[in-house]
Amino acid sequence: MLADYITPHPELVEGWKQKTQRLPPRRNARKKRAMSKPLYILNGPNLNRLGTREPEVYGRATLSDIEAACTKMTASRNRTLVFRQTNSEGTLVDYVQEAADAACALIINAGAYTHTSIALHDALRLLNVPVIELHLSNPAAREDFRRTNYVAPAATASICGFGAMGYEMAVTAALQLVKI
Ligand code: DQA
Repeated sequence: MLADYITPHPELVEGWKQKTQRLPPRRNARKKRAMSKPLYILNGPNLNRLGTREPEVYGRATLSDIEAACTKMTASRNRTLVFRQTNSEGTLVDYVQEAADAACALIINAGAYTHTSIALHDALRLLNVPVIELHLSNPAAREDFRRTNYVAPAATASICGFGAMGYEMAVTAALQLVKI
């Protein structure tokens, strides 16, 4: 019968199953899983208005320009990027919590919530991966009310005062920290 020729012998099948089940786990599997974690860049209130918002302070690049530059950088390093902006404090806390579970590192420009939000500070403390605080301007050199900072004490490092270039610096730094 033709079936006798094409049906593998049950002992062969059993032997093959045991062999494949005994194969060691793929080397570097854990490293690959870590590599597949996205980099998160979160932006707080009013940063959706970059380009036209006080350009003498924040420059002329729009948030879309910045997102495009960061996407290019992460793609060239085989990283996915999650890039978000919200004007709402609760949503920003939700995004930070999401990053705590999913991100390889977090870059955050919290805008004015930097100076007001204990909820944001508490959320940032959930992260066990590098957190980079980012600002286009240098808040320390501006009005007194910008000297209060709830983000910096929960961050690994801060990058301030480099304008839109700061985002690219932060991506380079975050991916370097992830490699360490
Ligand atoms: C900012 C600085 C904050 O003080 C301000 O409230 C912003 C932007 C910056 O990127 O320079 O909204 O985070």
